[in-house]
Amino acid sequence: MKAVVYEGLRQVSVKNIPDARIERHTDVLVRVTTSNICGSDLHMYEGRTSFEPGRVFGHENLGEVIEIGDAVDRVRVGDWVCLPFNVSCGFCANCERGLTAFCLTTNPAPGKVGAAYGYADMGPYSGGQAELLRVPYGDFNCLVLPEDARERQSDYVMLADVWPTGWHATELACVQPGDTVVIYGAGPVGLMAAYSAILKHASGVMVIDHHPDRLAKAEEIGAILIDDSQASPVEQVLELTEGLGADRGCECVGFQAHDTVGMEHPNMTLNNLVRSVKATGSIAVVGLFVARDPAGEDELYKRGTVAIDYGTFWYKGQTMSTGQCNVKNYNRQLLSLIHDGGARPSWILSHELELDDAPEAFMHFGARDEGWTKVALHPNKTS
Ligand SMILES: NC(=O)c1ccc[n+]([C@@H]2O[C@H](COP(=O)([O-])OP(=O)(O)OC[C@H]3O[C@@H](n4cnc5c(N)ncnc54)[C@H](O)[C@@H]3O)[C@@H](O)[C@H]2O)c1
Ligand SMILES: [Zn+2]
Ligand SMILES: [Zn+2]
Repeated sequence: MKAVVYEGLRQVSVKNIPDARIERHTDVLVRVTTSNICGSDLHMYEGRTSFEPGRVFGHENLGEVIEIGDAVDRVRVGDWVCLPFNVSCGFCANCERGLTAFCLTTNPAPGKVGAAYGYADMGPYSGGQAELLRVPYGDFNCLVLPEDARERQSDYVMLADVWPTGWHATELACVQPGDTVVIYGAGPVGLMAAYSAILKHASGVMVIDHHPDRLAKAEEIGAILIDDSQASPVEQVLELTEGLGADRGCECVGFQAHDTVGMEHPNMTLNNLVRSVKATGSIAVVGLFVARDPAGEDELYKRGTVAIDYGTFWYKGQTMSTGQCNVKNYNRQLLSLIHDGGARPSWILSHELELDDAPEAFMHFGARDEGWTKVALHPNKTS
């Protein structure tokens, strides 16, 4: 099969590799029709994780089931399915509590929890930017899609990660109707957090970034734009909130947060959030942070340490929640919003390309080039 293979620093190629296949009785084999490129892939593409050359990217996957293992009961050949990026078992203590991002059995590395397709430190699972994808525990992990799956796959594929993750940010930040919300990052995740906050009837959703095209996307859904290259984002938020700060804050950037000249500061968005969220407000951090960043420039963060203004955070009595999204907690309900016509998350999509276009797509999306807000790859054409 053809697949997008990581070759090393800022290099991917489209190669023939052995076909994915059923390996265990509980597996499902999917013919992938859409697989997105994610901002998380970029941390790996930019050589900032332990992602091994030779591995296949792709954790935002959708396609048609073409084969099932002997022990698969629910999912059928011919079903259209969207796969949560989390590979989870459904029977461990964490999965039982809905914490599928922290599955205790699917990541075989000692001391590690949680697994994902084509992802550093998240188990050996191959990604879906390929013609075929092996889905472990198919009955548990497959979200079976309704009859309009094929036509609306650019909406449904957003259920694999980016929309549930944006929604998760608003859940961790406890967004309630009427709240003011500040979101750092207008990448796909930040845009989806803004979309989720607006769907939850937040009263004012402020989105911060320095890419005008990404901010323009946020404007399309009625967010208030804050360009951090024009003036301090914290000052701008305080001005809009009578000096108090927003009720809730979402970090949707991660450890490669940078200033407007491109210098990285892993603590930048966290401290900006502490300063731009009100006393007693809640902060959600869904942007990715890693345990060690040897290739980074920040001396502290090389060993995973981030200098947070803890005194101010404590004085303000804020709370901060973090982590990977438990996609299965949200994907079924969000599916209903798409199916009933109440939501169209594909609005963030700027490019729909073929698998062969992956090297170019990684280059442009990786450079956050103008107009490249989100890319979907189509390994198998469906029409
Ligand atoms: N928790 C999860 O389950 C989960 C799931 C998916 C993605 N993620 C992570 O979420 C983060 C965002 O993903 P994405 O796909 O939107 O990535 P992205 O890189 O496309 O977007 C990040 C945006 O942040 C902006 N930015 C950089 N520095 C900033 C700063 N100091 N202030 C404000 N904005 C700044 C960039 O200009 C960019 O537009 C990544 O770290 C990704 O790994 C987490
Ligand atoms: Zn993703
Ligand atoms: Zn589990």
